[in-house]
Amino acid sequence: MLMSSKSAEKSPIYYLFNPRSIAVIGASRDPKKIGYQILKNIIEYGFKGKVYPVNPKADEILGLKCYKSILDIPDEVDVAVISIPAQYVLPVVEECGKKGVKALIVISSGFGEVGNVELERKLVETARKYGMRILGPNIFGLYYGPARLNATFGPKEVIPGNIAFVSQSGALGIALMGWTIAKGVALSAVVSMGNKADIDDADVLEYFETDPNTKVILIYMEGIRPGLGRRFVEVARRVSKKKPIIVIKAGRTERGAAAAASHTGALAGADAIYNAAFKQAGVLRAIGFEEAFDWAKALSMLPPPKGENAVIITNGGGAGVMATDAAVECGIRLMEMPPDLQERFRKYMPPFGSPKNPIDLTGQASEEAYKGALLEAFNEPRIHSIILLYCQTAITDPEVLADKIIEAWNEAKERKPMVVSFIGGIECDRAMAKLDKAGIPAYPSPERAVSALSAVYKWARWAGYVKE
Ligand code: COA
Repeated sequence: MLMSSKSAEKSPIYYLFNPRSIAVIGASRDPKKIGYQILKNIIEYGFKGKVYPVNPKADEILGLKCYKSILDIPDEVDVAVISIPAQYVLPVVEECGKKGVKALIVISSGFGEVGNVELERKLVETARKYGMRILGPNIFGLYYGPARLNATFGPKEVIPGNIAFVSQSGALGIALMGWTIAKGVALSAVVSMGNKADIDDADVLEYFETDPNTKVILIYMEGIRPGLGRRFVEVARRVSKKKPIIVIKAGRTERGAAAAASHTGALAGADAIYNAAFKQAGVLRAIGFEEAFDWAKALSMLPPPKGENAVIITNGGGAGVMATDAAVECGIRLMEMPPDLQERFRKYMPPFGSPKNPIDLTGQASEEAYKGALLEAFNEPRIHSIILLYCQTAITDPEVLADKIIEAWNEAKERKPMVVSFIGGIECDRAMAKLDKAGIPAYPSPERAVSALSAVYKWARWAGYVKE
């Protein structure tokens, strides 16, 4: 196949995410093997390009013609996934180089992480000789939604969206792929980094910097390779001005760091150094994955605020107080309500309600009262962000309320950041799923909603949307 001069300019990392053709070396006939499952995922997820299984012992796998060697494929191959035992990988990499492959996804374990540093070094040296880049080794693969590419042995039905998830840990990464499906989190990419022998965090950040399909980047890391810290900070500092970067950096404690060292061979280093580097790079550091994905959801859905004035709208005094504490603790500024605004919000509550901040519509608030108060907040330029809380009552239907919230969101003169929390039973979960689907991030507790809004604020301040 002839390449146009335009596509010839694209980098190997561009092709890693957008291959026109992909070979699976070690595509197995046995459904229990990784090479079989990767090929199956690629086919069943609906990869847009061509797929070539390579296995010297097979003629056909999963209905596709099988080749003895990558050199036998009568077409250009942009990416090769390698899933054969470590000791056989090097000659295959050499063949890939001869074939003109641009990037390799090396699944195989048994390199630097178990002390085979020399083999890993040779792998990179060979790839470099041919201008190829390597993802891995010791990884579960790569998913990229826009290319309908699921070259992993993880779950198949990943939800396409705009959060890129980069994981140094394999098992945790695969598990979280499944978790995102269960939680309705939509992803643009999942990148398993493994030993980071060649491609590292900074390289993938550079790809996502200009990727129109990615709005937020979430990285699970145990450490940055020695000598690459400065580059990470430089690249992250630049990228984070355009797109939020969330990092879960495990190995925070001394014991945790020791565990990380024996897991991926990561030189964890003093946590304080990472903290300082993340601060310099404008990276948002999350403690756990639930918090990280909570933040990513809000950051991927909401516009940045234009100012610091946040209001809480609630039907429950207690939830309002909890959200107030959480907001103060995470640096969200709650607006002092001017008398004219108090008057306007009074229309939506009984006389015993409160139009201050929290705006307490009281337990008898109807779905219509919520909608009215919300529209008031959306259309008032002095209000910059909204925390909307609902405690389930028998006089309101959570799903009808969700519809009213979505109506207000769509009828508002201007979109501004809003996080929602519905507290209650299974009906609340259904209502929140509806809100999420409409692009309004919803959370099962006020603290999680507030924490997500605080991440939106932290990023907006860093990127210059609001002055600190
Ligand atoms: N080119 C193409 N195919 C080859 C080959 C070569 N040079 N050498 C062997 N094969 C074929 C085999 O015949 C086999 O196919 P078959 O089952 O139809 O006979 C297939 O490739 C796989 O090879 P096999 O030797 O059976 O290896 P395996 O599937 O048991 O293990 C790995 C390979 C890569 C999965 C394994 O070595 C490994 O590293 N596992 C860990 C992976 C991992 O956990 N990564 C990190 C995730 S977080």
